[in-house]
Amino acid sequence: MTTRFSKSELWQRFQHYYTEYPTLGLGMDLSRMNFGEDYLPGMKTAIQKAFIAMAELEKGGIANPSEKRMVGHYWLRNPGLAPTRTIQTEIEETVTAIKAFAARVHSGEVRGSGGVFTHLLVIGIGGSALGPQFVAKALGQPATDKMAVHFFDNTDPDGMDKVLAEIGTGLGKTLSVVISKSGGTKETRNGMLEAQSAYARAGLQFAAHAVAVTGTFSELDKYATTNNWLQRFPMWDWVGGRTSELSAVGLLPAALQGLDIDGLLAGAKACDVVTRVPDPRINPAAQLALMWYYIGDGKGSKNMVILPYKDRLELFSKYGQQLIMESLGKAFDNDNREVHQGIAVFGNKGATDQHSYVQQLRDGVLNFFVTFIEVLQDRQTPSMEVDPQVTAGDYLCGFLLGTRQALYESGRESITLTLQAVSPHSIGMLIALFERAVGLYATLININAYDQPGVEAGKKAAAAVIGLQKRILDYLSEKSGHALTSDQLASGIGAHDDFETVFKILEHLAANPDHGVKKLAGASPFLATYQKI
Ligand code: PA5
Repeated sequence: MTTRFSKSELWQRFQHYYTEYPTLGLGMDLSRMNFGEDYLPGMKTAIQKAFIAMAELEKGGIANPSEKRMVGHYWLRNPGLAPTRTIQTEIEETVTAIKAFAARVHSGEVRGSGGVFTHLLVIGIGGSALGPQFVAKALGQPATDKMAVHFFDNTDPDGMDKVLAEIGTGLGKTLSVVISKSGGTKETRNGMLEAQSAYARAGLQFAAHAVAVTGTFSELDKYATTNNWLQRFPMWDWVGGRTSELSAVGLLPAALQGLDIDGLLAGAKACDVVTRVPDPRINPAAQLALMWYYIGDGKGSKNMVILPYKDRLELFSKYGQQLIMESLGKAFDNDNREVHQGIAVFGNKGATDQHSYVQQLRDGVLNFFVTFIEVLQDRQTPSMEVDPQVTAGDYLCGFLLGTRQALYESGRESITLTLQAVSPHSIGMLIALFERAVGLYATLININAYDQPGVEAGKKAAAAVIGLQKRILDYLSEKSGHALTSDQLASGIGAHDDFETVFKILEHLAANPDHGVKKLAGASPFLATYQKI
């Protein structure tokens, strides 16, 4: 039976398990997680081991053994911690170069063919997009931002058309920042080519409007060099994609938008100071990791619902989803045992979600816990009253507290993070907090949080499909004038294991005008025929 504490017991627990971190503007409440008094003492050895592993990582140990890489995102906000002088200098010089470039863009010294850059098009995916998207939305002020930010974060042609339509005739005043650590990610390459073609259609030269953030000597790096792009900024192998927000990946778009990147870095640095303390009673990252371990029995058996009651934090759940699921979702542990670890993460924002899936959270299947994020400051100016003595922000607060209590009463556990305000400092802090919680939790469950074999496998599988499409098109050209079923085609090209993929590719080809493939309906979906016209 689920333990549940009465209101007076909860108040006692709150006083015991609520911690304020004044340097971070953060409060963390664990009282609505129903762990017993012996849980935290029982985890002492395990969490100490995690602190030691984290200290080794920060010193530059090979913390990503499968890729034989150091893991250095903590150095980005405190370059003095980097294991070599060269790395320290690279980090410092990159921040200086970002600020200098942003200043030249804002002053109009670097400008587009149509005038001063007022739009920013960021092209990237995964770790090369989610952080910039989260920060742009969290901290942007449309009235005062230096540039309006747009994203290509997929290889969806219609999605890109929509973004280009938003930019409209402003392409000559649009700076494109192409971000890819590896420099070879197809979605990003395609986005770049589509953007390049859009500039060309508008009579503009892409190179005069383009900047790259990528690893040295990557395909993208070479392309940007050969084509004389405006500037290139580095990505280093010791920064993982999903922990790259405080490298040029996130800092360059933020600086161009006009956001306070020093504030972001300072918030993350301050959080690192607090979360480095090897005592879970006063370390919020360790507290999160231990709560994740408690609620999911160290196996991720409960989903994490991230519910910030703040529109600006809406993308935090999406950002956190990648950070947590791509880091922790692993088939094998560090001893090569098959474990299939992970924590499923979803969420959006409150109070909006109360009119959506919160119904199920309250009354339905109990397979989750909630991480509420409360922001004390409603807005920077006073608010009107929507009812006597009540503001809209009071309602937001009321909905959070009411929902949390209602969930608790039906046996649903939750953590609450309280932020004073949404600011560059608190956003940097939140990023650093979850980065370290993920790292500590990974040691608790003995997995490598810093590789992503599943992502690589997905890239290979897509390449195989594109290869198959090429064979289909060649065969259709060879058999020009003949209408063939998908079975005949699959047999014809020797794709005996791939009948379904051949069928799906043909359906896609026939739905688009690009390859001249025509479909003639048959008596069943599988008797339809396809030919090249
Ligand atoms: O976190 C990761 O490593 C991934 O999500 C990558 O960021 C994503 O695959 C994009 O890779 P790249 O930056 O090399 O284009």
